[in-house]
Amino acid sequence: MMEINVVILAAGRGKRMHSDKPKVLHTLAGKPLLMHVLDSAVQSGAHKIYVIYGHGGEEVPQAAAAYQASFILQEPQLGTGHAVQHAIPHMPQDGVTLVLYGDVPLIQSTTIKKMLAVQDKLVLLTTLLDNPTGYGRIERDKQGNITRIIEDKDCTSTQRTIKEVNTGILAGPTRRLQTWLAQLENKNSQGEYYLTDIVAMAVADGVAIQAEQPTQAWEVVGVNSKTQLAVLERTWQEEQARQLLERGVTLADPARIDIRGKLICGRDVEIDVGCIFEGDVRLGDQVKVGAYSIIKKSDIGNGTIIHPFSHIEQTKIGENCRIGPYARLRPGSNLHDEVHIGNFVEIKNSEIAANSKANHLSYIGDSTVGSQVNIGAGTITCNYDGVNKHRTVIEDGVFIGSATQIIAPVTIGRNATIGAGSTITRDAPEDVLTLSRAKQTTVMGWKRPSKKK
Ligand code: UD1
Ligand code: MG
Repeated sequence: MMEINVVILAAGRGKRMHSDKPKVLHTLAGKPLLMHVLDSAVQSGAHKIYVIYGHGGEEVPQAAAAYQASFILQEPQLGTGHAVQHAIPHMPQDGVTLVLYGDVPLIQSTTIKKMLAVQDKLVLLTTLLDNPTGYGRIERDKQGNITRIIEDKDCTSTQRTIKEVNTGILAGPTRRLQTWLAQLENKNSQGEYYLTDIVAMAVADGVAIQAEQPTQAWEVVGVNSKTQLAVLERTWQEEQARQLLERGVTLADPARIDIRGKLICGRDVEIDVGCIFEGDVRLGDQVKVGAYSIIKKSDIGNGTIIHPFSHIEQTKIGENCRIGPYARLRPGSNLHDEVHIGNFVEIKNSEIAANSKANHLSYIGDSTVGSQVNIGAGTITCNYDGVNKHRTVIEDGVFIGSATQIIAPVTIGRNATIGAGSTITRDAPEDVLTLSRAKQTTVMGWKRPSKKK
């Protein structure tokens, strides 16, 4: 196949967003609009990608710096044709140029590949709309051949009734595009250089024009306002929910799940309402996620149950664990199999080996916890001295009584027991009971204070 080079038009201001942020940096499913388009371009096998930017200054190139793309400033913005003119001189003559829009985020590589499969033609992505207002209309002759595109503002009342519209996305031989773009004029109602005028030039040059349609209507929906962004967000979330259901995932309500990244599920996974998944998340077979849980960049093993209102980030959880309700697992947590983490327990940057439990009201940070450990309610690892973080090591089989503070760095030896209410500042030996607790005293004859009259 020929080399594909992509131009993404992203210079527009997005006035109707009423925002200081460039339109293409507003997010859909947690990702800026422009990055959706860049990802589709990459998946379509783009050789080089050129992003035409304008409004918002360097914000756009900075935000997309992680991509292998060139950024070209278009200032002033004199139309879509003018925008493509900025990139076309950089393209190798014998390839294909594909034009995408930074504010049409959900274009899929399947549709793009369909367009790129057409050789030596100008390929337009068109669609039929019941209400075509605002779009350029596709004019065809009696044989059904495309003759030109007429912009909405330049339409006669008859042309205005045409329902086949230009989505803006097109692909064509670069050598031809270079010639046509050089001939563009701005003699139209908007005084702009229209990219769409190349269609009539192609006809004049005897180059065949073909229309392809998107596989799904939402692929070509553009975003101009927060309302449209919100509608497209819902469309995309419904689509992802539909894909999960198709693969056998049970969703309590497909309208109440948000996926802002990639969610991979095993067999017989059940997800209750209101859950949010961010970044790459994997749920193993038979995992259940309780209502209103938030799971970011985590991997959850087979048979594990996440009870409601749990917050899990950059955490690896083994098989058959019980987490929550109201658990908070912070980055760097690694829970082995059959670990139980209960309500109001926070774990950060800690490893917890198999069969250990912290069921109530605890903070475990920067710790290495062995297997078969029981951490009593209200246990706190005091990992921070105000300047440095220190590690706590709790070996296999340890039992820690409730309301214990463990002042790191410290090691609790294998099978040790710590008495409830202790403040542990030095290593505790294996197999024995260690406690630090003031002796209980009773003050005879003591009276509660009473109100003065
Ligand atoms: C364009 C098409 C129209 C099509 C419609 C689909 C032209 C002349 N018209 O119209 O046929 O139906 O899209 O939505 O192409 N942009 C730049 N630089 C510019 C001008 C625009 O980067 O100088 C970018 C905008 O940021 C936007 C895109 O190009 O992402 C489309 O521009 P816009 O002004 O919205 O074109 P339309 O008038 O909607
Ligand atoms: Mg537009």
